[in-house]
Amino acid sequence: MAAKSAEHRTRDPNTLSNVQEVTTTNISLQLDVDFGKRTLSGTAKLDLKILQDGIKNVILDTRELTIHGVRSEDGNALEYTVRNVAASPFGSPLDIQFANPLDKDATTSVYIHYETSPKASALQWLTPEQTAGKKYPYLFSQCQAIHCRSMVPCQDAPAVKSTYQAKITVPRELVALMSALRVGEEPVTSDKTRWTYKFHQKVPIPSYLIAIVVGALESKVIGPRSRVWSEKEMVERAAYEFQDTEQFLATAEELCGPYVWGEYDLLILPPSFPYGGMENPCLTFVTPTTVAGDRSLVNVAAHEIAHSWTGNLVTNKTWEHFWLNEGHTVFVERKIIGRLHGEKTRHFECMGGWNFLRDTIAAFGDTNPHTHLVPVLDGVDPDDAFSAVPYEKGSALLFYLETLVGGPEVFEPFLRSYVDNFKYECLTTAEWKDYLFTFFDDKVKEGVFDEVDWNAWFNTPGMPPLKPEYDTTMSDACIALSRRWREASIDELDQFTADDLNDFTTGQKIEFLAQFLLEEALSLDQLKAMEKCYGFNSSKNSEIRFRWYRMCIRGGWQDVIPMALEFVTEQGRMKFVRPIYRDLYALDSARERAVETFKKNRGQMNNICSNMVAKDLKVDK
Ligand code: BES
Ligand code: ZN
Repeated sequence: MAAKSAEHRTRDPNTLSNVQEVTTTNISLQLDVDFGKRTLSGTAKLDLKILQDGIKNVILDTRELTIHGVRSEDGNALEYTVRNVAASPFGSPLDIQFANPLDKDATTSVYIHYETSPKASALQWLTPEQTAGKKYPYLFSQCQAIHCRSMVPCQDAPAVKSTYQAKITVPRELVALMSALRVGEEPVTSDKTRWTYKFHQKVPIPSYLIAIVVGALESKVIGPRSRVWSEKEMVERAAYEFQDTEQFLATAEELCGPYVWGEYDLLILPPSFPYGGMENPCLTFVTPTTVAGDRSLVNVAAHEIAHSWTGNLVTNKTWEHFWLNEGHTVFVERKIIGRLHGEKTRHFECMGGWNFLRDTIAAFGDTNPHTHLVPVLDGVDPDDAFSAVPYEKGSALLFYLETLVGGPEVFEPFLRSYVDNFKYECLTTAEWKDYLFTFFDDKVKEGVFDEVDWNAWFNTPGMPPLKPEYDTTMSDACIALSRRWREASIDELDQFTADDLNDFTTGQKIEFLAQFLLEEALSLDQLKAMEKCYGFNSSKNSEIRFRWYRMCIRGGWQDVIPMALEFVTEQGRMKFVRPIYRDLYALDSARERAVETFKKNRGQMNNICSNMVAKDLKVDK
């Protein structure tokens, strides 16, 4: 039989669980947070539903968990084995035998008594020195894509959706939050030093959306259903930065339908948080590098808000269909920005995304299978496959289709209907395409989609077969100024002044710098002249610093290397840290310092980030 092409694949290669036979309907956690031992310990109760006749066991994903025992509902011990799969990113499956074989539609529960490892890949334990307040320790999780298994024994697959409840016990000076509604808190009667927080997530979610944070957290109301949470040192600045949250939510509701999660809060994490943002339901996690002081980087909030529909309600069936989550979310993020700042801004963001895609594909090499929109992930750790491709190739495809069917007025009803049709479910790329064709039935008959080279979009590496037509009003100015810099001879460099950037938005400054990363490096003279006019060395905007340092490293400007090393040490957002470390590694005169800096700091870094950088720098684990 011929192999099915990637868009049809339904089997999840990144889980070891028997997801075809059993599913989880609810998870109840009772966990004790121990900052001394750096562990979570307690019980996970999983409510299971059987999907086929004669099922004898459930296999759960675990990674570096210590299992103390497994019991059934009636309190009897159940037999289990933890299979050891050496050094697999997928962990060690926990195989639990039911007391009797169970038939389709039967339900049962298992109680797993366990403890996490201090090295759990989902968790980062910070010392007080690593926090803003310097007084209390801090813990946060990052489960996407397959790290939940190091925190909770579960069916760690996006196709399995369950509700969850949790009781989390922490030192009483600290606050615990989760990706769920807060439903109560109380002192621990037997221990005056501890406090219990209770949570309930009533909407069924995949395991990768389970999240926890524990720290000296405070909050401020920023909207009718929203607060920002952070250490007290950041609360005011964060509240200012994310003032537009309710407007984003309301706009997203117009586009995608009602917000079903009740509350929408934002948590600003310590600087080592490895992503820009993470769409944990009810509580988006964001990096402090988005708090620029001028609201210029809040598209991250628009993005995570959009995930409340695309991703969290309608979910990719496996990580091979990740573009369904991220491509749609980028598309909706830019729709939100477009509604609030105009279509020209939306097109400008899309152009920026297209350039980011060019950059990404150039770095991977245009025949690399990781550049497929729908990659095959057999034996592949999703962290290794992660890139801008699903985001930008995916959203470019949607933009192209929008133009093809007749524009936003025609395409937006599809988006809304797609969310409504697949909410609370998961789907593959093939199912997405079927739904597109059903919705646009008449257009299919008119032959509107005949020109789309689906196979090229889905299953071939490199850039997409076609570039959508974006309005270039805002990007033209960035390109024109960057051309002038490229074309100026050494004696012409005095034509540039700080005023060149007067009419630029922060986004345009960022895009101006991005132009230089698409072509060969500037000379040292050019870089120094640019610094003299525009003073990028003293910028505090993380997106500007990121691009400026990359330009300077590529141009071999030694004075900037310490600043770049400082940047990758003071914050841990992978989007910034990995490319800068890679650029430093590629520069003979910086390689040794980069490796040294990494080795010195890796103990303080987030696990996910340090594992990736170790690979990038070819440093052993
Ligand atoms: N869900 C992602 C972050 C993620 C993806 C974590 C895969 C782990 C594995 C989140 O929504 C995201 O895309 N964040 C972006 C925001 C940007 C596109 C505005 C980021 O972190 O930069
Ligand atoms: Zn996202």
